Amino acid sequence: MKEPKILITGAFGQLGTALTDALISKYGSDAVVATDLHIREGFSCKTLKLDATDIQALDEVVRQQKITQIYHLAAILSAKGEEKPLQTWDLNNSTFFNVLEVARLNAIKKVFFPSSIAVFGPDARKEYVSHDFALHPTTVYGISKVAGEHWARYYNAKYDLDVRCLRYPGLISYQSFPGGGTTDYAVDIFHKAINGENFVSYLQEDTQLPMLYMDDAIEATLQLMEAPKEAIKTVGYNIQGISFSPKELLEAIQKHIPEFKAAYKPDHRQAIAESWPISLDDRAAQAEWGWKPKYDLAKMTQEMLKQLELKKNNSQKQHA
Ligand code: NAD
Ligand code: SER
Repeated sequence: MKEPKILITGAFGQLGTALTDALISKYGSDAVVATDLHIREGFSCKTLKLDATDIQALDEVVRQQKITQIYHLAAILSAKGEEKPLQTWDLNNSTFFNVLEVARLNAIKKVFFPSSIAVFGPDARKEYVSHDFALHPTTVYGISKVAGEHWARYYNAKYDLDVRCLRYPGLISYQSFPGGGTTDYAVDIFHKAINGENFVSYLQEDTQLPMLYMDDAIEATLQLMEAPKEAIKTVGYNIQGISFSPKELLEAIQKHIPEFKAAYKPDHRQAIAESWPISLDDRAAQAEWGWKPKYDLAKMTQEMLKQLELKKNNSQKQHA
């Protein structure tokens, strides 16, 4: 049998949309099965409707498709999570348990679990936070990610599974919209800029958070998953991309669109942002599997504006 054969859960969200295409490019269309609650067209691989809370359905797909790796992306993110804490805890944990159990029972070779900067709490609101700094999350999303990292360690130790985790900062991409996180403003602002609209930030102008351009996030994910097992010594790698505030991002966009304006009306997401690190120490990822981001604020801004402009022009041509 040709390997790997990859199953992705939650494949049509912000990360999955880009990661599915990257995995297809790397391993081929036949090597990827992209699943989510609803089918989305436009991928060259097999796409299936799959609710990851349903362990029997998950197990059936894994057996039928002869899956050897699972990328488990399905989750409720931080801001949405605070609106429905118990449902978030339930969904984020039950889906990961199902993945772990199905992986164990079917001798799955590798599992990818996307963790987050949300594993940290207000005591980590500082620069250059190490991966082994205390984990005191104050969101239910963050608590679920800490629990996920612990369960990954448990399954690795007890059942010799190979579950690998990255703590992504806020992801910035043009391919699709984000799905309810605290860092979503940093994607939304680009859409407003391209559409000639003013932007209202739900975070204060000086609130810095770590972010990462999607190309770098994909590169990190592929590098981590390709690294030899012996190289992986950490569950829950920090990866640092670019730390900036809404005002710094606005200024970077204004270099291209000088008339673009923003106002600041902080809401409940301000408290979540203030409970997360300003920047991360990612030396473990650098040393153990060679992590190195390519995008700084200027390069990311230029690329986002270019790609969204292209998308807008293509969509206008289609509707003309
Ligand atoms: P998203 O909200 O855009 O996508 C999540 C996807 O999961 C959605 O398509 C949704 O339909 C699907 N889903 C929800 N419940 C499901 C279920 N029961 N069964 C199957 N699918 C289900 O989120 P994202 O930004 O793509 O995030 C993907 C993963 O990466 C998540 O685990 C998230 O915690 C993690 N992450 C994301 C970021 C970020 O900035 N986007 C940062 C850190 C970590
Ligand atoms: N970007 C995510 C969020 O804001 C962090 O995991 O929820």
